[in-house]
Formats: sequence, C-alpha cells, structure tokens
Amino acid sequence: MTAVLVVGSGISGLWTAIRAAEAGCEVTVVTKAAIDEGSTPWAQGGIAAAVFAGDAPERHAADTLAAGAGLGDPEAIEILTSEGPARIRDLIRFGVAFDRDESGIARGLEAAHSRARILHAGGDSTGAAIEAALVGTVRRRGIRVLEHATLVDLVVEGGRVVGAQVLVEGGADGAGSMRELRADAVVLATGGSGMLYAHTTNPDVATGDGVAAAARAGAEVADLEFVQFHPTALAVPGTPLISEAVRGEGAVIRDAGGHRFLLDVDPRGELAPRDVVARAVWRRMAEQGGEPARLDATALGAEFLARRFPSLDRACRAAGFDWSLEPVPIVPAAHYAMGGIVTDLDGRSSLLGLWAVGEAARTGVHGANRLASNSLLEGAVFAERAAAAIAHAASAPADLISHVHDSGYTIRRTGGGPGPGGAADRISADADAGRVSGPVEREELQRLMWDHVGLERDAAGLAEASARLDAWHAPEPVDRRSVEDRNLLELARLTVAAALARSESIGAHTRTDEPAAPAGARSAHRPTLERQAA
Ligand code: SIN
Repeated sequence: MTAVLVVGSGISGLWTAIRAAEAGCEVTVVTKAAIDEGSTPWAQGGIAAAVFAGDAPERHAADTLAAGAGLGDPEAIEILTSEGPARIRDLIRFGVAFDRDESGIARGLEAAHSRARILHAGGDSTGAAIEAALVGTVRRRGIRVLEHATLVDLVVEGGRVVGAQVLVEGGADGAGSMRELRADAVVLATGGSGMLYAHTTNPDVATGDGVAAAARAGAEVADLEFVQFHPTALAVPGTPLISEAVRGEGAVIRDAGGHRFLLDVDPRGELAPRDVVARAVWRRMAEQGGEPARLDATALGAEFLARRFPSLDRACRAAGFDWSLEPVPIVPAAHYAMGGIVTDLDGRSSLLGLWAVGEAARTGVHGANRLASNSLLEGAVFAERAAAAIAHAASAPADLISHVHDSGYTIRRTGGGPGPGGAADRISADADAGRVSGPVEREELQRLMWDHVGLERDAAGLAEASARLDAWHAPEPVDRRSVEDRNLLELARLTVAAALARSESIGAHTRTDEPAAPAGARSAHRPTLERQAA
C-alpha cells in the first residue's frame, strides 16, 4: 500500500488526502495548527468555474491567461478551466451548499472575468464552507490527521524524498518533539507566504514552509517574484480584506477627495485585473501622503450588504464603520503567491517522491497575476490529478520518478542541502560584508520586504534588501516560531533574487526602474519537466 504524507490541510491538502485514501493509499495529513486554521477558510469571494449558461471553459481560460499578463501556461490553464466544472460537482457531493437565487446557483462577478462565474457559499464564507465539508469528509472516513505538527525539512535519501521531519507540539511535558515520518509520496499543500510582508490578508500560518523546505531539499521553485497584493484590505489591523466580490456587485474606489480614480487608469475601472487596481491604489495613496483610499459600497444599500456579505457586514461594523452609509478606508496587502514549487500537470515536483498542490505549487496557471477566485479551483483541480497520479504510481512505481527542467527564471539555492540555516542557506553573493550579522528579526524582515519587495521594486531597493537578508542568519529550528523564521528568511532571499533576475515590469512584478514588457514579449514561460530514468 502506498504511504502518502500530505502536509497542509486546506482545500488542496484535504482533497489530495480524500482522493488518495479512496484509491487505497495509506494517508496521513500533518498540519501546523488546528486542521481548519489555514487560508482556505478565509477565502471570501468564491470559486470560479464555467458552469453557467452563456459561459465556456475556453472563455474562462482566456480570462485567466489575460489576467496573468500572458505568462500563464496555456496547457495548465486549459486543464484548470475544463476540469473545473467537474470539481464543482464534487464539492456539491462533498456537501458544499452554494448560494442559490431564483435562477439556480447564484453567480457572482469579480475583476477581469468576462462572465459572472463565481460560485459562493454563505454569502462571503465560501472557503469556510468548503473547508468544513472537506474536514467533515476526512473525519467521517477516518483519515489520520496529525495537528500541531510543523514541517521542518524533507528527508532526502539517494536523491529521493522519502519523508519529512516534523516538530510535534504538545508532548507530555509541553515540549515539542521532532519526528521523522516516512512515506512513498510526500505532498506539500502548505499554502502561501503572506507573512513575508508587514501587511497581509493571510493568517499567521502562511509562512511558506513547504516552498522553503522544498527549495532547501533542491526542488525547483519558480515565479517567486510574482506576489499578488489585494487592493482592498480594510485599513484597520486585525480586520479582513473586503472581497473583490463587493466591487463585482458595484462598489467603487475613491481617493481622499472622493474622486473615482480607477477609471483614469483603466477603462475597466475597479474590475481591472487585481495587479492594476492594487498598483493604482498604492500610487494614489502615495500621492495623498499615505492616506488610505476608500471603498464606497453605499450604493448597494444596507439590506443587500447584510444579506450578500454577512461576515463583512459584521466585520465592518465591529471596526466602527457603517459601510452602507460611508466609504471605508482600504489599503493594499500581500495576498497570494503566484510562484512556488514547480510541478508538472499532475503535481509532481522536480524531486523524486515530492509533490506539490495548491498555493505552494507553481502549476503555471496564474502567470504574472492570478485571476480572482481561481485559487480554490486550482487547489481542487490539481489535487484531484495529483492524487490520481500518486495512486496510479502505486501500481506502476516508475511513475513516482520525477523530473528535471530547464528554466530561465527558476531559482536554485546555491547553498548546501537541508540543514539548520547559517552560511549554507545563502543564495546571493551580493551580501554587504560590512553589515552586522545576527538572527533574523521577523518584524524587520516583514518591513524590509514591504518597503523594497512590495508593489513596486527597483534594483537599488532589491540590492538593499538582499544585503540585509544576507546579513541575517537563520535560527536553529527548535520550535514552530524558529522553523517559520528560518523559512521566511529562506523565502525572502529567494523572492529578492527572483525579483532582481526579472528585469522587466509585468503583472504583479513592477520594477519602477525597468520598462513594461512589450506585449509581444509576453510569451508563456513554462519550466519544462522531463521524465528522467531512475
Ligand atoms: C476576494 O474575495 O477578494 C479574494 C478572493 C481571491 O483572492 O480570489
């Protein structure tokens, strides 16, 4: 029986676990916090799929490619959009009750979609509804779940990933214990890394643990320079973002003078692709001395806002705003990692025995900027494929053989193999030797990334960030916090290196010192994964 270790418990991890178990694999899920503490339950807007009359997967694919500035992989996008409707039917079978209206399942609109194709549940609690359905399925089927277990490193033997080292909290004496879990297939479903930034829409757990561990183990990672910033986080610490679906229903963005400035930037206004809107908000904030922009939903009315967006209605009121009567202050915040562990179309990484799904994976569907509400869909579609491929590999072990690829933008660590940080973790030769070295400070790192590797970057700022990051050293991974800090440092270095390497402005990667890539140059870039003999 194939032993499968799934790391992470959002939509992609639980989906992989359920399907692999159905196929007869022996599955263990490990997750850093409680099973439902990841990003999936935080997803408000919904899940996009071409399931409605008047729509087609080809249209969804065209929108996905266009929003990604043409950098997405057409083959991966075709899979995402053509297999999406079947995964929606699966979600309904898993027990997700999508919202309905007089025409059947209700459909929402979000930025850069040419059709209203966003399914939602509980108004603005789609991710929570999906997570609850999947957790319920995992529990009912008795799939083994180890909570409060943090991935520390992958175990690599003879060039093959054979397991993972995890730190399990809550021993008898309250101390954590290090354990090695062996598996035929390790699936990283560890989500994103919004905690790299001082301002993020992500939960605390989003520290990029899987991507950092995979990079340390020598797996290919790519597109880390493409970090999506959400344009409308409520400008009050500890409050949620305000879903793009609110703009889809007609809310507009105004500057401090009340002017609806997005229309000056893009004819699509507030429904331009997310990178365009976030950059415009960022620039207008700079022009008005850092004062937040305003999201004006007053035209939608109190009754509609409370019914369509119940969680947001409560959050706005708890923060002291009656958004039916007044525009609310909004700022951009780090939201989604388009890059990650390079996979083929079935979730295989470049390392034998290692797989990746969800936000941790770089499947190629998002290009330079993810289309709204494609993340939950990606999690489901590629988890389904990965589970099937892993299960198939059980009867044909050669299929677990992984791949190499050749990519202009792929980053490889130049340091050694897995280890507790230190000099071997360095990826850049540009360190300013004169800087004082010390253990990484998380808040300083987050501020550094926000200031120099945020919505706008330039070579000087990136070089400054690179030097500061190289001066820090990673802590020994002895508890969850130190494991996360080590990973954040690793990922920050990789992200800076990727941002320096891409000397053009495209999608979410804006280099103020480099021109926008000419339209003709936006050719799809796809790392090529080729099968390798064992
Ligand atoms: C939102 O509801 O605005 C976020 C959804 C997404 O990131 O796709």
